[in-house]
Amino acid sequence: MSALEKSPETAGRAPLMTLGGVSQVFHTKAGPIRAVDNINLSVNPGEVLCLVGESGSGKTTAARMAAGLARPSSGEVAFDGTDIWALKRDDFTTFRRSVQYVHQDPYASLNPTRTIQQTITAPLLKHGVVKTKKAAVERATELLAKVDLTPPENYLSKYPHQLSGGQRQRVAVARALTLDPKLIIADESTSMLDVSIRISVLAMLGRLRDDLGVGFLFITHDLAIAKYFGWHGKTAVMYLGRIVEFGPTPKIINAPTHPYTRALIDAIPEPDPDLTKTKGRESLRSLEIPSLAHLPSGCTFHPRCPLFEDGLCDGAVPELVTIRSGQSAACHVVARDGVAALDDEARSDEPRA
Ligand SMILES: Nc1ncnc2c1ncn2[C@@H]1O[C@H](COP(=O)(O)OP(=O)(O)OP(=O)(O)O)[C@@H](O)[C@H]1O
Ligand code: SF4
Ligand SMILES: [Mg+2]
Repeated sequence: MSALEKSPETAGRAPLMTLGGVSQVFHTKAGPIRAVDNINLSVNPGEVLCLVGESGSGKTTAARMAAGLARPSSGEVAFDGTDIWALKRDDFTTFRRSVQYVHQDPYASLNPTRTIQQTITAPLLKHGVVKTKKAAVERATELLAKVDLTPPENYLSKYPHQLSGGQRQRVAVARALTLDPKLIIADESTSMLDVSIRISVLAMLGRLRDDLGVGFLFITHDLAIAKYFGWHGKTAVMYLGRIVEFGPTPKIINAPTHPYTRALIDAIPEPDPDLTKTKGRESLRSLEIPSLAHLPSGCTFHPRCPLFEDGLCDGAVPELVTIRSGQSAACHVVARDGVAALDDEARSDEPRA
């Protein structure tokens, strides 16, 4: 039995993917930067985990490590309970097939010299999913229909430049499905699309999530999109390489406990009655995001935080601790005072949805 195969007794027990104390340090001209700093995350089979944070917070760096595209500087990445960097070559190949990455820019990720048929049939044939070219074309046709490119025959002979952005992203998703993945990492996969197209691509991804039972690591800078896609899953909020809040998505959206999550929700421009907007909430002390090369001491959010306490927040780095059932935050003040540190509206123990 290979390291990635599980006996019936152990199957389903381990999370599908785990990042355990994972860090990634880049050596830049400005000195070493810790793009991801000691994060712990896991995705269970069929579960959605949303990773949310501003640009530069380390989402893609974390996702590349989860996909085995980059080796962590420290910590362990495990798939089906096994350290992926301890796998033998064949098992590593099996792992790489099980995790598919859908990038932000479908144009950059599709080979411009290949037709859609070639793009989708190549992995099917290369990995022996089907035996003949005819079977590969049939499967490609099915996959295009799955991502709502209909009639699929109209798309097979086209090149990426002949498609719209939304159609290209659907092709990228169809290609990701060729090898029957257990986990799809969708990294800002809809952020480059126009709003109306974004909604239809998100709806298509949601249907795949429900129909295929595949796990999702869903990355977005937009909490409103995390709410839409990951409502029945969990959300982790990243700030400057660290997880600052984690919990079931409805709790993160409706009853956030970390001042940074609350600021992200306040920054959502569109009115949405489900999103917590606290009247009179104190505003950020600064809009400037510190450089990873010169991180503030203690809690790295302290130069911006409305709840900042001198001597406490700029001292030690706050640990991620449970604030209330299933919801954790890395904040000295909230850990000390509980949600009483926040205002009345956020004090509710139950999300309003
Ligand atoms: N290969 C690299 N070498 C040096 N620095 C890097 C490298 N890759 C990422 N970084 C830096 O690491 C930090 C985190 O980058 P990352 O791309 O993971 O952020 P992100 O949250 O995905 O941002 P965005 O929302 O803009 O995609 C950034 O400061 C980035 O400049
Ligand atoms: S530790 Fe202090 S600075 Fe950091 S989020 Fe909490 S209150 Fe704000
Ligand atoms: Mg990114």
